[in-house]
Amino acid sequence: VKVFVPVDAAALSVGAEAVAKAVAREAEARGLSVEIIRNGTRGMLWLEPLVEVETPDGRIAYGPVATGDVAGLFDSGFLSGAAHELNLGKTEELDWMKRQQRVTFERIGVTDPLSLSDYRTYDGLKGLQKALSLTGAEIVETVRASGLRGRGGAGFPTGIKWKTVHDAQAEQKYIVCNADEGDSGTFADRMLMEGDPFLLIEGMTIAAVAVGATRGYIYLRSEYPHAHKALSRAILKAENAGLLGDSVLGTNHAFHLEVRLGAGAYICGEETSLLESLEGKRAIVRAKPPIPALKGLFAKPTIVNNVLSFAAVPWILQHGAQAYADYGMGRSRGTLPVQLGGNIKRGGLVELAFGISLREIIEDLGGGTLSGRPIRAVQVGGPLGAYLTAGQLDVAMDYEALASIKAMLGHGGIVVFDDTVDMARQARFAFEFCAKESCGKCTPCRIGATRGVETMDRIIAGHERPKNIAVLRDLNKLMTDASLCAMGGLTPMPVMSALNHFAEDFDRPVLPLA
Ligand code: NAI
Ligand code: SF4
Repeated sequence: VKVFVPVDAAALSVGAEAVAKAVAREAEARGLSVEIIRNGTRGMLWLEPLVEVETPDGRIAYGPVATGDVAGLFDSGFLSGAAHELNLGKTEELDWMKRQQRVTFERIGVTDPLSLSDYRTYDGLKGLQKALSLTGAEIVETVRASGLRGRGGAGFPTGIKWKTVHDAQAEQKYIVCNADEGDSGTFADRMLMEGDPFLLIEGMTIAAVAVGATRGYIYLRSEYPHAHKALSRAILKAENAGLLGDSVLGTNHAFHLEVRLGAGAYICGEETSLLESLEGKRAIVRAKPPIPALKGLFAKPTIVNNVLSFAAVPWILQHGAQAYADYGMGRSRGTLPVQLGGNIKRGGLVELAFGISLREIIEDLGGGTLSGRPIRAVQVGGPLGAYLTAGQLDVAMDYEALASIKAMLGHGGIVVFDDTVDMARQARFAFEFCAKESCGKCTPCRIGATRGVETMDRIIAGHERPKNIAVLRDLNKLMTDASLCAMGGLTPMPVMSALNHFAEDFDRPVLPLA
């Protein structure tokens, strides 16, 4: 009997390792033959550790399972999918699973992440095989026609970026994956690298074949040790299977791929400072132009894409550009892996076609706040994203719809706050974060963020509030207009949304010191 216990870091953090061991021990003690497969997570993080059992009817889910539940599960006959208080029914039929359009994440939680044969069985490498039958220009055109936009946050059309690199003349080109996922409240890249590492490898290999690059790097944050382990093992297996190396699947395309670890700086997620770091230098942002597509790593044409952008490509090649473009709305085509966190009853990852409203995600899928108190604010798009009010939740998950209300989709992270949040403190936090993570190259960000913290401290302390709020607005305008990169340029977004939507928090009575 096959039993699935996730190896994903989120599941491990709540005891999945001990549960896997307990299942193995209990099976042995009872003389039962059980094959334990360590899969990725299905994304229902409130149910982790989620144990699944394969039955002729499909997989049956049990969760959240603690080690103390394991003997009872065996007693109840869970190996044949029997009833038990933790039995949730068929995994695929759970509401959370049924509501999704799993495209990029279709294999995650289903397969053994490090089994290349599982990968092939579940349609892996079909996109690459298709790509190998096309010219580079045809691959680029397929990606362009799919409407895929950069999933790191900026939403730049991936096909146009690839075309720039494809058309550039150079003896060496590079493929770089930005896996520095630094946004608070985001974890889709991590889940994908831990749960389906061959998918990222396949996507990057397709990019290499498309533009004629022979070397690639995955720039991974060091805070992701499990992803590091999974990627390193998967790359080795891919090399041994002839997928990577001097010849990609027997063709005359060579592609060598390596993982490089970051050192914990948020700014390394900005593509040019990432490239500096990859070159062994201090991660200071470069002025653009030149864009990395023309002068990137070691001044050579380089595709820099986020994990999710590369990972979307194999499906697009396999099923065709139109099939991907059929999902979504307006100029936001395809699907978006949404990460739901903060004060939420059911947190986790859902992959959805663009266009669903924020309210449906938070209320229907997420079940509202964990505290049971009313939602007061929702931050979308990481620490540099805007805070939305409970009245704005009908906005569609779409790049343009969010931009029209001065917000951004970013990397798809949603963090929910209840009515106990103090938005002036959240605004202060945005400046504090920027002051800490600024690379220091330009004055508006380096000095502005620190002045922002000081100004917020005065406002919170009730010191000359009207004057300091005017300073705050002025400072935000300067940082937006004059910062060199998105770090300083976007910090005003959470600050201004807090000030404009939650002005009462900037005028709270000051409590006398105890
Ligand atoms: P950007 O708009 O400057 O560039 C987007 C991408 O398009 C870059 O890769 C750029 O090189 C490329 N590009 C621009 N013009 C091009 C052309 N003509 N040909 C080819 N390529 C071209 O945005 P940036 O600064 O790269 O990213 C900012 C975004 O990053 C923010 O909106 C934010 O959402 C996101 N972000 C994501 C984080 C995460 O953890 N995933 C963390 C912080 C920010
Ligand atoms: Fe560096 Fe901040 Fe300027 Fe970006 S905005 S270049 S992080 S100082």
